[in-house]
Parts: sequence; structure tokens; C-alpha cells
Amino acid sequence: MTGAAVLFPSASAAPRPLEVGLLGVGTVGGAVARLAERHRELVRRRAGRPVEVVRGLVRDLSRPRPLPVERLTTEAGDILDDPAIELVVEALGGVQPAYGWVRRALARGKTVVTANKDLLAAHGPELARLARERGAGLYYEACVVSGLPVLRALAEGLAADPVEYVGGVVNATTNVVLSRMEEGATRAEAVALAQRLGYAEADPSSDLDGWDAARKLAILATLAWSEPVRLPAVEVAGLGDLGPEDLAFAREAGYRVRPLALAALWRGALHLAVGPALVGPRHAAWDVEGSMNVVYARSANLGRLRLASRGAGGEETASGILADIVAAARGPHLAAAACLEPWLRRGEPARPRRPGWPGRVLWFAREGTRREITRERMTEAEARARFGRRARLLPVYDDDAPKP
Ligand SMILES: NC(=O)c1ccc[n+]([C@@H]2O[C@H](COP(=O)([O-])OP(=O)(O)OC[C@H]3O[C@@H](n4cnc5c(N)ncnc54)[C@H](OP(=O)(O)O)[C@@H]3O)[C@@H](O)[C@H]2O)c1
Repeated sequence: MTGAAVLFPSASAAPRPLEVGLLGVGTVGGAVARLAERHRELVRRRAGRPVEVVRGLVRDLSRPRPLPVERLTTEAGDILDDPAIELVVEALGGVQPAYGWVRRALARGKTVVTANKDLLAAHGPELARLARERGAGLYYEACVVSGLPVLRALAEGLAADPVEYVGGVVNATTNVVLSRMEEGATRAEAVALAQRLGYAEADPSSDLDGWDAARKLAILATLAWSEPVRLPAVEVAGLGDLGPEDLAFAREAGYRVRPLALAALWRGALHLAVGPALVGPRHAAWDVEGSMNVVYARSANLGRLRLASRGAGGEETASGILADIVAAARGPHLAAAACLEPWLRRGEPARPRRPGWPGRVLWFAREGTRREITRERMTEAEARARFGRRARLLPVYDDDAPKP
């Protein structure tokens, strides 16, 4: 059979549908059900077989869902123990009970597609090994910047091209808050607005304190350098007490404050940091506002690349999940093999980790009402000695590349 025949099977071949179970039919799982229906024909053609969402797990059966009520269940076993269901989409959120259910699905040889970065940050290597042992796929494109295909770009597009750095604005909530503060809103007003627009959760601390972005950066770095990068390797700073006055000061100096995540291979070590940073007009994050996210990178042979899109939302995330379902349906697990390989590495990492901003950056320093952008480059220790131990220091990047 030729490749074209696999992708575009004749109608008479009538391949068996790929039966999909959804663990969670909320914002993301519900959008997966809707888009699978809306793009049924496109998905069938590209996957080489029809894709049917046959079951969805929820807690509350009485809420309206995009699946008929007879397909809903409150028993995870109805999905995990059904031999006809080949692929499970995990769209629950949180580490438990998702971890136990994903393990159970993989142990039964079912392929899993997830958008849950918390789960991967906590158990990625173990789940990857289990998937490999059972010949199942584990797909997770939607974990970072919803549907934007950044993980495939790093793991497959740059598979033979050494990556120098990868960075981005990868948390929509923080970016919405900073964008509003740039317009003069106080932090409390900006957070309230982000909550009203559905970008911030009732407790937005994991976003505003930088932990959500740090988990995503750990996944990006894992794929960029093909070895697991764990959370403690990332220096994490949140927005803290940054106020509209700081953003106005930056603007007058020709910079904007963006919630940056950056990993760079610099002086033989991986430097990883997350936090607000000042960026100049030539930086990839300069014009990325509100709910937009960006991922940028530079590799030895391709040079600079940049991918941007809305960083959250049910349909945006479902777009990435459906792409993973199509890839899995095409099987064998080619895409998953590339994306799983870095998680399977054991032993000492090839490159030492250095939590912190790479490059000898300029610093924006603030202590009390004093604000300054240092003209000379200095280390963080030198900057603190000069501005005081309580100074708030933000790195300043004129463009994407950490300067030697
Ligand atoms: N929302 C986004 O824009 C976005 C973007 C990228 C990634 N993600 C990730 O996608 C995942 C899902 O997020 P979401 O926004 O779709 O969450 P959500 O709207 O809260 O949906 C969660 C779904 O899981 C079900 N559920 C949770 N715990 C359950 C349990 N113990 N038993 C049975 N059902 C349970 C809920 O059932 P009920 O409806 O009955 O409560 C609900 O249908 C998370 O990992 C999130 O980080 C979300």
C-alpha cells in the first residue's frame, strides 16, 4: 500500500473507526467532542479512518455537554476497561486522579493524548517508559501554548539541528495581566479583568507566580535538548509587586515588560529562567499582547524561528489534541516516538543545569521608588551589591539572543 493510499483510503475500504474516550468533558474535552464532529470529514481523510468520540467521563451528568447523555459516564472504568476504546484523551487537569487513570490506560495498551502539563512535569519519564513498554502512544502537543505545534517543531522539525536557545511568552494569564497594567490598570484590576475574560482561575497564583510557565519551559527544554529537564533546574520569579509605574518606566526607556520563559545553552550549561523581563522592539516577545503567546528559538542551521498564537482556550487546545489524535490514528506511533525519546533518557544529564537568566544581561533595578536600567552589564550578585539586597531585578533583553 502506498503512503497516499494510507492517507486517502478509498471509501470501499471502510476502515474501522478509531474509538476515543474522553476523561473530562469540560472546556477542553467538550471542545474536542465538538471539533471532532465539526471536522469529521477532514479528520477522517487525514487520519485514514473515522474518529468517533464514543464515551465521556464527567462528575456531574446533569450539565449540558456536546455529547449525548447516553455516551456520558461517571465511572472511569467504562472508558479504561472498554477494549473497543483505543485512544483516551485526558482532559481532567491536576495530577490526581489523572495520573492513576493515564497509567491504567497505558498499561492496557491504549494510546493517551493529554493537555496536562502538571501531569507530565510530575510523571513524564515514568509515563513515557510505560507507553514504550506497552507499545502505546503518549501525545502531549497541547500541553504548551494550547494547539500551537511547538513541540513537534522542536522534537521533529529540529531533530537534526542543535538548538541554541528556546524561549517565549507561554502563559496567557500573566500576559493579559501585564498588558492591562501597561494600559494603567492596577494589578488587582488587571487580575479581575483576566478572571472576567476567563483567562485567570479563581486562584491565579500558579500563573502569576511563574510555576505554570516553568512547567512548560521544562517541557520545551526537554524536547530542545533531548533529555529530561526538571522543574528545580528553572529559576522562577512571579510578577510579585511589579506595578504600572514599573511598566511605564520601562516604556519610557524603550522597553516593554513581558512574562518571559527562556532556556539557553550558554557556556556549556543549560540556563533556565522564568519571570518578568524587559524586552526591546527587536525581541520576539515585543508585540505579543494579551492572550497571545509566542515560542521562539534559534538553531545552528535554521537560525531564528518564531511561532505565535492565542495561548489558551477550549478550541485552540482541542485543535492540538485533534492533531495528536490524527497522528496516532495514522500509527505506528511515529510522532510519539520522536516526542517520547527525550523522556526515556536515564543517568546524568549531558549538560549541567544552571537556574538563572542566560547571558550577561543588563538589569532593570528598583528599590523603593528608585528605578534604573543599568548601563553596564553585571552579574545578579554585582547588581544586588550595588542596588541593595531588597532590590527587584529584572533582566533586560534587547533581542532574542542571550549576549555572550
Ligand atoms: N482551558 C484551557 O484553555 C486549557 C489550555 C491548555 C491546557 N489546558 C489543560 O487541559 C486540562 C483540562 O482543562 P479544562 O479547562 O478543560 O478543565 P475543566 O473545564 O475544569 O474540565 C475538567 C473536566 O474533567 C471532569 N473531571 C474532573 N475531575 C473528575 C473526576 N474526579 N471524575 C470525573 N470527572 C472529572 C470535569 O467534570 P465536571 O464537568 O462534571 O465537573 C470536567 O468535565 C487541564 O490539564 C488544563 O491545564 C486547558
